Amino acid sequence: MNIVQSEQQNLLSTRLKTETSHEHERMEQLMEKAQVFANKTNYAQHTLAQYYFQQDVENLYRHVEVEKIIPDLEVRGRSQAALLDLQDLDIEPHSEEIATLNVGYPEALGWIYVSEGSTLGAAFLFKEAQAKLGLSAEFGARNLAAYPEGRMRVWKRFKQALDDANFSKEDQDKVIQGALDGFSRFGVLLENLDQLK
Ligand code: HEM
Repeated sequence: MNIVQSEQQNLLSTRLKTETSHEHERMEQLMEKAQVFANKTNYAQHTLAQYYFQQDVENLYRHVEVEKIIPDLEVRGRSQAALLDLQDLDIEPHSEEIATLNVGYPEALGWIYVSEGSTLGAAFLFKEAQAKLGLSAEFGARNLAAYPEGRMRVWKRFKQALDDANFSKEDQDKVIQGALDGFSRFGVLLENLDQLK
């Protein structure tokens, strides 16, 4: 392996992708099992899961260190979009307990990674919501729509910000643990979709 390859492998963004890919695969399987786009009821339950997860993630924006590393937090986060979608779908969320009350920094960045990365896969989900359920960026599927600047641009900026922070190996490990915890939380929501209120 040459020096460039080895540096690439040690980047936090590369480690996050590699070391959480098994969880990503599990999410895809859970989504498939939940048949999210089979009907509006399933889709509405999935939107509830998104809403609760986004609330968990946005709760972490309060860490001042997070704001320093990710200076464009105001363009991120989709809980408000998910809430409007729920209104379109005639669902009123009950206040689920926030799962990140005890999540510190830098683990918080791992949770935010899970949320930001999920905007990429959401491109496929958005197409399905349009095709199968007739939803759109203005009605019912706002939480899956692209950020106004475009998905890739906002994602690349996020990854760059993580890498520019130059975390030690130990701190990178903590961010990765945060990401695994974030995936785990969304997994629990997906596994219990039909019971979500
Ligand atoms: C059927 C469901 C899903 C599909 C089809 C899907 C698909 C994708 C695709 C195509 C990418 C881009 C991969 C690349 O450019 O290399 C991606 C990235 C990502 N997705 Fe998903 N995804 C799904 C569900 C989820 C869920 C539920 C989450 C989290 C809760 C999630 C989190 C992520 C993350 C964090 C990344 C970034 C990976 C990286 O570091 O490059 N995805 N997904």
